[in-house]
Amino acid sequence: MSWRIKPLDAILATAEKKPLERTLGAWQLTLLGVGAIIGTGIFVLTSEAAQKAGPGMMLAFVVAGLVCAVAALCYSEIASMVPVSGSAYTYTYAVMGELLAWMVGWALILEYAVAASAVSVGWSGYFVGLLNSWGLSLPADFVMGPYAGGVVNLPAMLIALLITGLLMVGTTESARLNAVLVAIKVTALTVFIALTLPVIQGANFQPFLPNGWLGNGHGAGLGVIGAAASIFFAYVGFDAVSTAAEETKNPQRNVPIGLIASLAICTVFYLLVAAGAIGAIGAQPVNGPNGEILAPGTQALTDQCRAIVASGMTEPLVCSREALAHVLRAVGWQRIGDFIGIAAFLALPSVILIMLFGQTRIFFVMARDGLLPEKLATIHPKWKTPHIVTMITGVAVALFAAFLPVGKLADISNSGTLFAFFMVAISVLILRRTQPERHRPFRTPAVWLVAPLAIFGTLGLYLNLPFDAKMVLPLWGGIGLVVYYLYGYRKSHVGRGIIDVHEDDADAPPMPVPPMPGAHTPGGKDA
Ligand code: ALA
Repeated sequence: MSWRIKPLDAILATAEKKPLERTLGAWQLTLLGVGAIIGTGIFVLTSEAAQKAGPGMMLAFVVAGLVCAVAALCYSEIASMVPVSGSAYTYTYAVMGELLAWMVGWALILEYAVAASAVSVGWSGYFVGLLNSWGLSLPADFVMGPYAGGVVNLPAMLIALLITGLLMVGTTESARLNAVLVAIKVTALTVFIALTLPVIQGANFQPFLPNGWLGNGHGAGLGVIGAAASIFFAYVGFDAVSTAAEETKNPQRNVPIGLIASLAICTVFYLLVAAGAIGAIGAQPVNGPNGEILAPGTQALTDQCRAIVASGMTEPLVCSREALAHVLRAVGWQRIGDFIGIAAFLALPSVILIMLFGQTRIFFVMARDGLLPEKLATIHPKWKTPHIVTMITGVAVALFAAFLPVGKLADISNSGTLFAFFMVAISVLILRRTQPERHRPFRTPAVWLVAPLAIFGTLGLYLNLPFDAKMVLPLWGGIGLVVYYLYGYRKSHVGRGIIDVHEDDADAPPMPVPPMPGAHTPGGKDA
């Protein structure tokens, strides 16, 4: 076991070399959070959640939101203490040593890269749905992977490659465009709620918990808790608020307000959207021929869905790849369904961009610490981007998007994210014990209650992911261990006694998506 610890003071010296201006207030933080959170989760995974929990998916949104809230409060304390990039990887390096930090960084690669694949597949569902609605259809073999009887999901693959190309040549999104995309997403959800709530039918909420809390039992990945483990994806991105702690005025007050407000706003939106979808067209799971519960993203479910549509019945919510647009079309709002499709078509690529970028930044920091070959993070002389690592990541992301279903990808991404948040919650407690006197711009309230809740919450959700998604984490971790002992262990700068104090990411590429007007991004230009 390697307990090499990167001294916190060396990490902090990095940040102190280039302190950031404190410009963000509670309102801007809240907007930043809402913008980073809303994406494929609510637009697409609503149908997966319905298949797992039926109308009880509303409870799944609440459970996942609560786990995120406690995890976010822990994340904020450590983000405000250690305000440098690399997020959970860097924090773990300072608290629990190199090996665990490496494992967290390795899991974060899983989180970000696979999330980018998931959002690409979600985007593809809306793109294909829009084309269909306009009377254009692409051959079925080329719009879904083998899991649903197709060959390859070409649109998902192409959007991932397109975004990779844009990131390689250094495309950045302006703060204004980012704000417009946030407005589009929020407007689309508001329109959805306004049109579905009036047509709600109480009967559609019965039975409310067709698969109970745990489906076929604890750890089966079904029922309300199974749905919560998957729908956790819809909240990923809230860490953007914690990470902005160092740029926040009065962080002790504003960070928790920003975090809790953005999570609460999203939770309320998600609950209303879920209620509208359930009430308008129903959300009962589609079972197999013998009444067995079918998991989302399987051939068996696809076959059942095809049979239902072939019999002339309306396509159930759980079968749709563009859940929200489908609901509106089903209740007679064909063109407004298209509007939702266009909103997703326009806004989701920016989520792919953010995720891919996040991945390259983690890679970058790990390579800078000597744990990965620095060559991988070489900056292109003209584009000023880490083009090699971006390209490698982009191709992997595109391949995953081409052949795997969105729900599976989201679940795999969640396993990495839950692991990272689990480690952060432990780190907060350890640091409270080992370095109680260190300055904490933000202190987690009731930490001895909140952090254990975050630890058990993230662990509980992880254990209720589907079996294969759960297995990916130890498998990926095993590969990570081999890579570490073959490479990082010997090459690590800390291991070789080199304590780096970097200019705060002066060598890192700028953020492609500045948080919001008025914010300041590390290593990038003012938004
Ligand atoms: N929360 C983001 C989404 O749902 C990752 O797309």
